[in-house]
Formats: sequence, C-alpha cells, structure tokens
Amino acid sequence: MDRENPLSIKDWRRPMLDAYPGIAKHVPFIPLMDGVPTPVQHLGALSALFPGHAIYIKRDDLCSSIYGGNKPRKFEFLFADAIKKKKTTMITAGGTGTNHGLASVMFSNALSMKSKIYMFEQPLTWSVQRKLLMYAALGAQITLVKNYGELAFRGLGELLLHPRSYLMLPGGSPLFGIGTVAGCLGFVNAGFELAEQIKSGAMPSPDHVFIAAGSTGSVSGLILGCKLAGLKTKVAAVRVSERIVTNPASIERNIRNTLKMMRKADSSVPAVKISYPGDFMFFDGYLGSKYGCVTRKGQEAVDLVNRLEGGKGFHLETTYTGKACAAMLDFLKSGEMVGKASTVLLWNTYNSRDLSHLIGDCPATVQQLPRSFRKFFESKLACWQHASCSCNEPRGCPAYQHEDNRCWEIKATRGLDTSRCADCDTKKDIERYSVIEDA
Ligand SMILES: Cc1ncc(COP(=O)(O)O)c(C=O)c1O
Repeated sequence: MDRENPLSIKDWRRPMLDAYPGIAKHVPFIPLMDGVPTPVQHLGALSALFPGHAIYIKRDDLCSSIYGGNKPRKFEFLFADAIKKKKTTMITAGGTGTNHGLASVMFSNALSMKSKIYMFEQPLTWSVQRKLLMYAALGAQITLVKNYGELAFRGLGELLLHPRSYLMLPGGSPLFGIGTVAGCLGFVNAGFELAEQIKSGAMPSPDHVFIAAGSTGSVSGLILGCKLAGLKTKVAAVRVSERIVTNPASIERNIRNTLKMMRKADSSVPAVKISYPGDFMFFDGYLGSKYGCVTRKGQEAVDLVNRLEGGKGFHLETTYTGKACAAMLDFLKSGEMVGKASTVLLWNTYNSRDLSHLIGDCPATVQQLPRSFRKFFESKLACWQHASCSCNEPRGCPAYQHEDNRCWEIKATRGLDTSRCADCDTKKDIERYSVIEDA
C-alpha cells in the first residue's frame, strides 16, 4: 500500500494545496476522493417555482465511490493524521443513525484499519434502522452509550488503554474548541474547488450557499475557503443539531483555529477576519425538538425536490439536507428575496452511492447486531417488516428496503395504483410510528 496514496486515487490535485504549498508540506493529507471536483448542476424545475432565482446543487454525494457526502472531504486530513501517528483503529461516535460513523467504518475498511463506533440514541426512524442494518452487515464494532457523560468516559478510556486508537470526535469537527480542526481543511479546499468551477463557467457565482450545520466543521471550512478563494458568496449555515454545539460562535472559533493551522503551515495564507453576522448567515428554527427528528418542513422539502429533480440521482434526507433545503426555500420566498434575482447553491452533503446491498436479509441481520440495539427493531417502520418479507420473496417490489418507508409514496412516484392505500392498515401503522413534528 502506498502510504502517500493508499487507495491509488488517480487525480488528487486539491486546489487549496496548490494555492498554499506549505500546507501540503506540513499538514498530513492522503487522497481518498475519486470524484472531485464534484459536479454543480442547475435545478431547473425547482428554480421555476422561484421566478428570478436560479438554484444549483453541489453534488458532494458523488465525491467518492466508497461513500459520498461531506465526510470524505474531512477524512482526507483526519485519516492522514491518524496514519501519520501510526494509529491502527479509528474510533468515533454519533447518533444511532450516524452517517459519519458509517463513512468512518467504510473508509477504515478500505484503509485496512479497525473501527469502533459509540452511539447514542436519536429519534427512531426507518433511516436509523436501515443504517443499523448496514453496520450489522459490515460487521462493524458498535456500542450503545446512555448519555454524553458515558461517551466522554469511554473516549478517555480508549485513549488510555489503546494508544494505537485515533479518536475522531462526532462529526469529525472540534467540540467546544477541543480537538483538531484538520477536517475543516477539507471544506476550505471545497471553497477553492467551487471558485475554480465558477471561473471555468460551470455556474455563475452564487449569492448564497446553503449547507446543513451539525458539528459545524463543514460550514466553517467552507466559509473560510470561499473567503480565501475570493468569492463574494455568503454562506448560510442551517442549524440541524443542538444549540450548545451548533451556533455562530462555534463556527467563528473553528474558522479562527483553522486559519491559525493554515498560517502556521504556510505564512502566505492571509490573516482574514470572519465574523457573524457580517460574513455568514445562520438559520435557526429548522431543527425541530432535537437532533434527528423529522420535521414537516424538512420532509416537504425532501419530497418536493425528489418529485421535481429525482431523476438526477441524488436524494435529500430529513436530518440534514432536507432541513438545509427547507431554509433555502423559505429564504427565497421571503420578502427580502421575492422580486429579486439571485443564484443560490444547495450543498448536498448526503451520500448517494447505493448501499442497499449492505442491508441483506433484514430479520437475520438484526440478530447480528449487539443485543442492546435489537430493541430498535421492535417498531415496524416499513411495510415489508409488517409483511415479514425476506430478501428472496419481494424481488421487483419497489418498496422493499427502499430509503423511504412510505410505500404509498413510492408507489405514487412510480405511477402505480394507490387507490387502496388510504385504508391500508400498514400505512396507518407506519404513520403512527413515524412522528413528524410541526416545524
Ligand atoms: C448528511 C450530512 N450533512 C451534514 C452534516 C453536518 O456536517 P457537520 O457535522 O460538519 O456540520 C452531516 C454530519 O454528520 C451529515 O451526515
């Protein structure tokens, strides 16, 4: 295995590293993405609903053939740091539906590292169940913790007892200013990548870029990257996690610390000043009651984009991208924007690589999960769980293990007969368990 390029990625030019060679020299980096620059695409049908405005999407879902979304951008620096420190196990944490954890397992496997994920409970949805089935099929080492206190205790234990383990914080970003900002560099590069695409005519310079903000590493890096690359774009962070973690002050602090790291590695990086609200926007009010809950606005945004733009091969989800999209659509409908012309970009941070082969035969896969996780399958959240379908029977059934547990919606989007769905007990059961908050 080539230590500098362990996945043998062919094109690993990263524009930020070209702009600041000192970073390439002093900060650990390994190429992990084989799909960059990720395409920017015009969403014509969605734009038509907002006269004067042009909506684009940044297809980070395609950044890697292993697992797309925002994680690989961070991992190019975080896994590099781990490998440089000769660590052999990647440890991280997240909710029971964590994309970050799943991405970490997939890249650890690809890099022949071991992995471990500590998980805390989040609102139970089919998407959570679906991801747990993937963890089981991957044979991933997952452990359920009761609360953040236990999480911190376990993390410390790992550091003390297993010195060859690398602890990556939830989301791969610093928490309360603690932990490395190396992952943010991946999104600084993303800002440079966007600037190159604008220069080459792939899209006009966006007035606003909307992106989901959880642990805030992605948005922080992107704001800094856009600024350093000379874009006039205003980045809008949409809060999708608890306020104690996701707030403008955390973003400002991440930016300061990332800039410090960059300037230490390369003194030609200018000492730019970035502060809220002058330099970026922050949207509150889309989270709902807690991290991971499904909100009506988020679900409606997911459904609208799926209906209008579903043929392009990406899909939004309700924890992150659906909420970012809902904020963007509200913004375009606001008095500030109606009657004006603008270009907006939605940064798609959610993977679109098809991982359904990982789910396997559900009832059997559940038994492979640690006992403490099996309770999450007591609620039947999808039609094929009600009908006890196994993977051999429902070949050709479009609803079987689909990302969307609303079988009636799946039928409708495929033009199938839904006349009996309204009275169907399965539909009523699924709706009873699938809580949608009015936010
Ligand atoms: C799909 C998706 N979008 C956005 C985010 C938020 O990114 P960040 O934690 O860097 O704010 C995450 C984090 O897990 C994610 O999984």
